[in-house]
Amino acid sequence: MELSLHLGGLQSYEGDAIVVGVFSDGDLTAVAQAVDGLCGGAIGRLRGGAFRAALGEVFSLPLAGSSAPVALAVGLGPRAGFSHARAKKAAALAARHAKQMRLGRVGLAPLEPADAPSGGWALEATLIGAALGGYGFDRFQKEKGQGPHTLSLICAEADAPQGRAALAAAQAITAGVQAARDLVNTPPNEKTPEKLVATLQAMALEEGLDCRVIGRDELAGMGAGGILAVGRGSAHPPAIVVLRHDGGAGPWHGYLGKGMTFDSGGIDLKTAPGMLWMKSDMSGAAAVVGAMLSIHRLGVKGRFVGVLSIAENMTGADAFRPSDVLQMLSGTTVEVSDTDAEGRLVLADGLELLRREQVADIIDLATLTGAVVIALGKERAGLFSNDDAHAEQVLAAGARAAERYWRLPLDEEHSESLKSPTADMKSTGGRDGGASKAAAFLRHFAQDTPWVHLDIAGTAFEEEGGPLGHGATGFGVETLVRFAQGG
Ligand code: BES
Ligand code: MN
Ligand code: ZN
Repeated sequence: MELSLHLGGLQSYEGDAIVVGVFSDGDLTAVAQAVDGLCGGAIGRLRGGAFRAALGEVFSLPLAGSSAPVALAVGLGPRAGFSHARAKKAAALAARHAKQMRLGRVGLAPLEPADAPSGGWALEATLIGAALGGYGFDRFQKEKGQGPHTLSLICAEADAPQGRAALAAAQAITAGVQAARDLVNTPPNEKTPEKLVATLQAMALEEGLDCRVIGRDELAGMGAGGILAVGRGSAHPPAIVVLRHDGGAGPWHGYLGKGMTFDSGGIDLKTAPGMLWMKSDMSGAAAVVGAMLSIHRLGVKGRFVGVLSIAENMTGADAFRPSDVLQMLSGTTVEVSDTDAEGRLVLADGLELLRREQVADIIDLATLTGAVVIALGKERAGLFSNDDAHAEQVLAAGARAAERYWRLPLDEEHSESLKSPTADMKSTGGRDGGASKAAAFLRHFAQDTPWVHLDIAGTAFEEEGGPLGHGATGFGVETLVRFAQGG
């Protein structure tokens, strides 16, 4: 999907449709009035009736006197409280509608500055949202989806500088989000650890991103007992991939992602329905890859190192067992209490690797627990931290990205639940408060490095069409990009 700029008026835009935002109250905005004029006043007549202009509601109308045949009026909800988050959601739903209508070239008519009640024009959010909503994954289908292939921001000549800036940022960010979604949507037989590593190496080479692969033998030499144990039941050996963007001076910031290419649960096997979506168990790693790609394309000033802990959790003859004791990279010994709690083991070694890099702070992303889905649902990810200032920065980045988080507790009792009679600690502490207990396990390995853990188990994928459609959402990519831009 290509994002572009159309300089000039509505009438001169040649495509299949024009998307225009409509508030549910007050006068039509200037641009909505212009589109309304081209469809005989239908928007004004129908608004409040057949078209209520609720946030994300889409109404299609024939357009006359324009070189695009269809107008897609998308509701922005009430003027009060309009935000870039609402612009992003409305644009996503409009683009999804365009995809269902098989419209290939879609123009986006943004609000005039005078009509944007708060937060500027939200040009960037509109473009990013539309790209998110128009996304589809048809690599394995003979019949390709007929969704939008070109999304053009319609922009008056006078506003060209703002339009160009928004376009450049949106192109870089959506490239990262789409890369992450493609990786997550890829079936697990096509992204075994070796294949995923090869894909990442090729991508890094193409992008000019520094990439180092720590293979199984090197991990063994280092004593990375967590990730090695998790990978042992699979015919496909684990690896850690390290991506770097060096944008000048200052300390390095660490990003870490859980990259389970498939999570069967291991010897503590999951149920069939519980296993269905476990190709998405590398969504944390995919988000880090996408963010590193975007950050690099944006040329962000700052130094970022992305660590991806990649393995497949299977049940092979040499699989690790419940009650095995592992010596982790940090030296801590861990008694395995459940082989399905594998994510924390691969992340623990990743955290230690980042500590050795002496990073200033760490953000990890992981589809870590079912418990966080029960606690927060599918709209918000859980946020845990050992450092309030770092947590606030990540929350602020999330707000700029219109990705929602909710900070959850991390108490001493959560750590106490991980006491083992046999080893320094055990890997799980019981079902209740499971997301916090998993975070407490990670906190042990983050030690005193300012660290934020984002549990994205609920937000990483949609089983049935949400605003972003079916499958991977790319959740977290934009948060990491905004964090990088702000820090
Ligand atoms: N990958 C799963 C978590 C998950 C569940 C992600 C649902 C997405 C949707 C993780 O590895 C896991 O199995 N966690 C266990 C931990 C338990 C054994 C302590 C869980 O949540 O049940
Ligand atoms: Mn698991
Ligand atoms: Zn898992």
